[in-house]
Amino acid sequence: MAFKTLGQFIIEKQADFPYAKGELSRLLRDIGIAAKVINREVNKAGLADILGESGVQNIQGEVQKKLDVYADEQFIEALSRGGECCYIASEEHEDGIDLSVNLGCRHGKYIVCVDPLDGSSNIDLNVSVGSIFSIYRRTKQDGCEISMEEVLQSGDKQVAAGYIIYGSSTMLVYTTGKGVNGFTLDPSIGEFCLSHPDMKIPASGNIYAVNEGNYLKFPQYIKDYIKYCQVEDPASNRPYTSRYIGSMVADLHRTLITGGIFLYPETSQYPQGKLRLLYECNPLAFIVEQAGGKSLSGRESTLNIQPTQLHQRTSIVIGSVQMVQTVQAFMDGLY
Ligand code: AHG
Ligand code: MN
Ligand code: MN
Ligand code: MN
Repeated sequence: MAFKTLGQFIIEKQADFPYAKGELSRLLRDIGIAAKVINREVNKAGLADILGESGVQNIQGEVQKKLDVYADEQFIEALSRGGECCYIASEEHEDGIDLSVNLGCRHGKYIVCVDPLDGSSNIDLNVSVGSIFSIYRRTKQDGCEISMEEVLQSGDKQVAAGYIIYGSSTMLVYTTGKGVNGFTLDPSIGEFCLSHPDMKIPASGNIYAVNEGNYLKFPQYIKDYIKYCQVEDPASNRPYTSRYIGSMVADLHRTLITGGIFLYPETSQYPQGKLRLLYECNPLAFIVEQAGGKSLSGRESTLNIQPTQLHQRTSIVIGSVQMVQTVQAFMDGLY
């Protein structure tokens, strides 16, 4: 076979971890299985009765789409069955799912935070959507009950993170802190195959991604930066091109490959920012930084924020290192 499969790759890389007993590998395999099942439904969404709203609101105040609910169920089932995960924090559940309740002390060592279906507003429109996951190791291995302190770890403690993009092809991109690798699903054999080894984000780019409809709600330094992007300056490749899909996974996937910047700043409507720290910003920040990019939430590195709540929101400016530094300079009043 010409390509290495995700399963083969995970087993090969297991040797990178001194403490590895195969548990993280099995957890990643379980996530890969959930991804394939979700992919199957996303692909036939127009045929199956799976488009539209479920009629239920989630903790975010959003009406869940049927595919949000389906994707959430697939992750929970795969992670519960696998036995390596002891706690799931999902966008679609107000409280985390404590798997140790049923399994007593025989539960796994890992905590998984997940955005089961990212880009809900694009589901019914045949536009790319995704899934995002973030994995932490338990800090109190001896304790039976899991504590919130163990769940609310800062992003720099992630042991692995990744996303799946259900696009014109389906890809799984992940990191375990030793670079970033991308796998494309070959539907003919039903396997994710290594197609993008050791992904690196260019240090700069010429695409900016922001929901400009919110322009009037942005802080002044963001407004100034957007104008800077639009100014003609051939030496720095400006004006930049604007692209905004509205699925964070898809916008970040493009940014990772071509270079560029993605911004979801604090707004007058969302003073803390809109995107969620645990299962959107942290995993994508880990991946982008592992690929050589940068992610800021205000003046702080996204990965350094100490979370206090499962569904905490944060602002984010993420992408090519030089472009993020320019936004930082705007924030510091240096421009
Ligand atoms: P989700 O579908 O998981 O709730 O996430 C939606 C997020 C993210 O995917 C996207 O980048 C952002 O919301 C778009 O928000 P706006 O419509 O406010 O731009
Ligand atoms: Mn999302
Ligand atoms: Mn979602
Ligand atoms: Mn949502």
